[in-house]
Amino acid sequence: MHNTKVTVTTQDIHEYKGDMLVFHAARREDGTIDCDPRVSTYVAALTDYNDFTAKLNETVLFYPAEMKNTEMLAARRVLVVGIGKKESRDDESVHREIFRSVGGTISKVCEKLKIKDLTVAAGPDLGLERAAIVECITEGILLGDYRFEKYKSEDEETPVYPGVKKIIFEVSGKAAALKKACQRGASAAMAACIARDMANEPGNNWTASHFARLAEKLSEKYPLKCTILDKTKMKRLGMGGLLAVNQGSAEPPKLIVLEYTPDKAKETVMLVGKGLTFDSGGISLKPAAGMHDMKYDMCGGAAVMAAMQAIAEDRPSVRVVALIPATDNMSGSKALKPGDIIRHYNGITSEIVNTDAEGRLILADALAYGIKTYTPDCVVDVATLTGAVIIGLGHHHTGVLGNNDELVEQLVRAGKSCGEPLWRLPLGKEYTKQIESQVADIKNAGGRPGGTITAAAYLEKFVGDTPWAHLDIAGTAWDFTEKTYIPKGPSGVAVRTLVEFVRCRK
Ligand code: BES
Ligand code: MN
Ligand code: ZN
Repeated sequence: MHNTKVTVTTQDIHEYKGDMLVFHAARREDGTIDCDPRVSTYVAALTDYNDFTAKLNETVLFYPAEMKNTEMLAARRVLVVGIGKKESRDDESVHREIFRSVGGTISKVCEKLKIKDLTVAAGPDLGLERAAIVECITEGILLGDYRFEKYKSEDEETPVYPGVKKIIFEVSGKAAALKKACQRGASAAMAACIARDMANEPGNNWTASHFARLAEKLSEKYPLKCTILDKTKMKRLGMGGLLAVNQGSAEPPKLIVLEYTPDKAKETVMLVGKGLTFDSGGISLKPAAGMHDMKYDMCGGAAVMAAMQAIAEDRPSVRVVALIPATDNMSGSKALKPGDIIRHYNGITSEIVNTDAEGRLILADALAYGIKTYTPDCVVDVATLTGAVIIGLGHHHTGVLGNNDELVEQLVRAGKSCGEPLWRLPLGKEYTKQIESQVADIKNAGGRPGGTITAAAYLEKFVGDTPWAHLDIAGTAWDFTEKTYIPKGPSGVAVRTLVEFVRCRK
């Protein structure tokens, strides 16, 4: 895991003697290159050969010590990364994504050359403030510099690369504000990497109890209060959904609560994440092909827990309560069966028509219990809830549904500025009708049509009038859009969106 120092310097970078000095260069309308005068002679030479056109993520490396016209740069290597054409300035999120992706490119060069420290020089701004550039490059480098190698045996020929240890940004003046920008970028990116770590852990080493232990550890290190509800407590409270899903398992369930409470809280935001540590489907067993990916069915819970770390570092003036219902979904002899009827925390009864529609069962209890106990001003839940969202939106948008336009819009805005786009789907009585049951208040699946919507319609029954939004990350939690800073495997999606959402509420 990262322990990278990210900081700023006002010193003359000619004297920087470290592993790599990074510049970025933009492409002007007329095809010429806009770059720092300190590297313009190198870059001009390359353009004569047509070898560098400053397209986005195009790179070129120099070794100043080996060159005649060194302009006295003392760094071992100089990297110039293209940021493409200077485009219109109205959409800030486009520019933010460009610099995040440049950060990802930098991290790839670092990995190849085993670079441990680097300095990023100031450069053309492309319509974005320097603070935002620093924040986004930081995010991109740290998100791109992610590996999960804990279960790989060591190999003498390829020694382990510990990753980037130090990132320094050249700044002039305003050092304090830019240092803050480093911290913002770093805390959000580190949190996303922690979520990826949880997701990468296999089901045999990431159970509900592992989730609970991490929450306790976070509460020792950060100003967070941790409460773990165990099976006995759940029985006493009547959490029939979470208990039902856990019935077929040898692993005990946990409902994890993490609370961040500032001195003078303006409001309470509640976050709920699906912590399904392995989804076999239960008695409605899933097909074998691809079932191993269902260890990722806890990505919503991981996102919420990781976001709490960044929120505890940020210390906003809003109270944030996170709930993670955690269990696996197995088919042991006591397992929940199709046809069974369960009773949720709020008394609503549900006919189980498919034991593979388990996420909504555990979320329903957590939502109803959380709202009753903490009376939040708004609730956001995050879950790998339906395969249907992949059919609808592919791997490029998280699905968002909710009962409050303003809340949904705030989330869409937060997602956009993080490079984690959301797309809203509707709710409505026609969809709610699909989950009506002959024998109970509702049933847990509404058939194939509108699968993402009927799943959300189920959750809607448990939030009452509280402003609520639901993020279905089944398509984006892994196999997310290919980007320089998104690795194969779990993406850590929703962590930065939640952090940004809370940053905007305070
Ligand atoms: N965890 C799955 C959803 C999922 C599927 C996530 C594929 C990522 C990739 C969820 O518990 C599930 O099985 N949903 C069912 C619901 C259906 C039975 C109504 C689905 O989507 O098929
Ligand atoms: Mn399932
Ligand atoms: Zn599931």
